[in-house]
Amino acid sequence: MYLVRLIYCSAVTHELNMQEVEQIISTAKENNGKVEVTGLLCFNRKYFLQCLEGARTNVNKVYHNILNDPRHHQVVLLEYDEISRREFSDWAMGCVPESDLTKPLCIKYSGNSEFNPYEMRGESCLGMMLELRNSVALI
Ligand SMILES: Cc1cc2nc3c(=O)[nH]c(=O)nc-3n(C[C@H](O)[C@H](O)[C@H](O)COP(=O)(O)O)c2cc1C
Repeated sequence: MYLVRLIYCSAVTHELNMQEVEQIISTAKENNGKVEVTGLLCFNRKYFLQCLEGARTNVNKVYHNILNDPRHHQVVLLEYDEISRREFSDWAMGCVPESDLTKPLCIKYSGNSEFNPYEMRGESCLGMMLELRNSVALI
């Protein structure tokens, strides 16, 4: 089995309410748990940044479903790597909304307090998500 990590960003097609975001998260947790895909989803009112880790076939299938989801668009693949171990093994899908707690990390990795993954390098996106994993209480 080949383990891979995939990171992409996207923009919301319309402003999502909390119920819609919770729906996405609960579907992600349920589906990913079944196929042992783990990862993290960061978002604000405009953008998503997601990391998916797991067996290559499973990550590719999940990503394919995500690509076709009308709730977001302009999906940009930022990183796709073979890995030897997972970084987010505790979360079927951890979730970090933008908040005052995430702003310092945004500044550190993008130079801007407003979260905009399109303005970040893939490596910085991973670095920020690793620090978020360590510092934010995930819901
Ligand atoms: C930003 C975003 C992230 C998503 N992340 C996942 C995910 O990690 N896993 C997943 O199965 N579905 C995810 N989805 C939902 C999928 O696009 C799709 O709706 C879902 O896989 C369909 O599952 P179902 O056939 O069980 O309803 C995400 C959707 C969006 C908009």
